[in-house]
Amino acid sequence: MPKHWWKTFFEEDFARLFLVRHPREVTQTVRFLMKHLHLKKDDLLFDQCSGIGTISHALAEQGYRTIGIEQSRRYVQEAQETAKKEQLKNCLFISGDALRFLPSETADGAFNWYTSFGYYLDDEQNLQMLKQAFASLKKGKWFALDFHNSFYLLRGRLPVRTYIKKINKQTIRVKRHSWVNLEHGTLTSEWTYSFPGEPDRVRAGTTRLYMPAELKQMFLQAGFRDLRFFGGTDEQPLSLKSPRCIIVGRKPL
Ligand SMILES: C[S@@+](CC[C@H](N)C(=O)[O-])C[C@H]1O[C@@H](n2cnc3c(N)ncnc32)[C@H](O)[C@@H]1O
Repeated sequence: MPKHWWKTFFEEDFARLFLVRHPREVTQTVRFLMKHLHLKKDDLLFDQCSGIGTISHALAEQGYRTIGIEQSRRYVQEAQETAKKEQLKNCLFISGDALRFLPSETADGAFNWYTSFGYYLDDEQNLQMLKQAFASLKKGKWFALDFHNSFYLLRGRLPVRTYIKKINKQTIRVKRHSWVNLEHGTLTSEWTYSFPGEPDRVRAGTTRLYMPAELKQMFLQAGFRDLRFFGGTDEQPLSLKSPRCIIVGRKPL
């Protein structure tokens, strides 16, 4: 596994199949963020690891100003093109490393969504991502992290999961084969994309299996307080049955 696996993993297939979400899911996410980041009209939001801009676009449609940082130039270009097409003027996307980047104006809210965290084996580097989120904010403002619930993953989603996706009348099969390294506390997944009439394409990635209590410690170390835990954007409490682990924390006044 290359050390910076995400530089090749996040390409067109993944974006088309997994980053374009159902409008209902996006609407629920926006509602969750508006409520739990305590957003007000014209607020500036920092989207850490913004992908093709799915969440930023939806927030910009609600009248917020957004700034996203994303390592994939291709994704940034796509996010910018969509913003232009949708006439979303206050939606900015920048290509760079979220471990170093800070917006030039401090934000009124920040979020890191859809397991864009825990890609390093080294906890200090993952913590750096949270420290950047903390530094991006004005005092008293909120940050939300949407991560997988490692307990839920270990209970049932391994070793093989198959996704069937339909795009433009084409059926695409994606097989995800995953395995756990207990020594490193990681989950490695190999994704095989089968498009009709084309050779299979295989991509792999590794994320840390942080448990909610470990994430809590990292949030506190980064400086966040008033932490809240959720099992999803439906605001259910975090439990063994929650597929997601969402943590919201505040930069103290
Ligand atoms: C699973 S995708 C989620 C994208 C987006 N947050 C969403 O909800 O659609 C994870 C994204 O994080 C980006 N990423 C990972 N590490 C990064 C880093 N250090 N700096 C900037 N972007 C990063 C990847 O390129 C990818 O687009």
